[in-house]
Amino acid sequence: MHRCHTLKYEVQGAAFEYIITAKKGKNSNVGLIQLNRPKVLNALCNGLIMELNQALEAFEEDPAVGAIVLTGGEKAFAAGADIKEMQSHTFQDCYSGRFLSHWDRLTRVKKPIIAAVNGYALGGGCELAMMCDIIYAGEKAQFGQPEILIGTIPEWHAQQPSAPAGAGGTQRLTRAVGKSLAMEMVLTGDRISAQDAKQAGLVSKIFPVETVVEEAIQCAEKIASSSKIITAMAKESVNAAFEMTLAEGVKLEKKLFYSTFATDDQKEGMAAFVEKRKANFKDQ
Ligand code: CAA
Repeated sequence: MHRCHTLKYEVQGAAFEYIITAKKGKNSNVGLIQLNRPKVLNALCNGLIMELNQALEAFEEDPAVGAIVLTGGEKAFAAGADIKEMQSHTFQDCYSGRFLSHWDRLTRVKKPIIAAVNGYALGGGCELAMMCDIIYAGEKAQFGQPEILIGTIPEWHAQQPSAPAGAGGTQRLTRAVGKSLAMEMVLTGDRISAQDAKQAGLVSKIFPVETVVEEAIQCAEKIASSSKIITAMAKESVNAAFEMTLAEGVKLEKKLFYSTFATDDQKEGMAAFVEKRKANFKDQ
């Protein structure tokens, strides 16, 4: 069986083999997760996904953390699912739910997640970036869904069909870049550049390779400085646009908008505006 490399990192009491985690930002309010299997371009093996989920859960529970940044290395964000690990799977393995059944945890995190992508974001790596809420790209990043070239198709297993953002890879890419480009990428396996990805709306900003992670952390710090509870509502509402009709989405948006008025942070935010001072949110 193909093995992930065995370097171990101790961060915040958790020993991880395939990822590195840290808290970043002036107030240590940003959770940073770095995929760390550089020798295989951060291929997403089972162990890596399990550690990623563990780190996401830890940051989700941490009251000091307001946003998360997910990144990889300079050569690869992630070159997809681990082909060597999955090559011998049978249909029965996949169908019985064991294969990729835990890959969608990220879509249920309430805190915003920014993907800072350098190098290859391919297959499951591209899908992982697309499951994040914002994508920042280094200027040499490349995005692609090359599964067709190895005899399969893009897929992101959603264990719970009702999960807010648990759609498949072909679905998410198509919503992000439109049918023609998505179809071309999925049918040819061709990669697109960071610049093309930005033009198509897949990424929001492009930065020099060396600064993209820092820029993502700064964006995450800015997000983390607002009320966590209101931020979670805003994220839920935007995500609903991918799952609901316009009428349903607008109805949910209105309910969430009304709900903000039940929070202390809405009172504080508006009082601070009127009193011309900085809001002091308590996440209540
Ligand atoms: N799985 C397992 N190992 C991988 C990998 C992957 N997805 N991608 C790269 N690697 C390994 C290579 O096997 C190689 O390991 P060895 O040194 O042990 O041979 C190492 O990473 C370096 O890779 P290359 O020598 O190929 O590097 P390169 O610079 O020549 O090419 C690349 C880079 C174009 C990204 C090429 O590695 C590649 O095409 N990788 C596969 C991309 C792919 O097909 N991704 C989709 C996977 S399927 C999927 O993700 C399904 C899904 O939707 C969930």
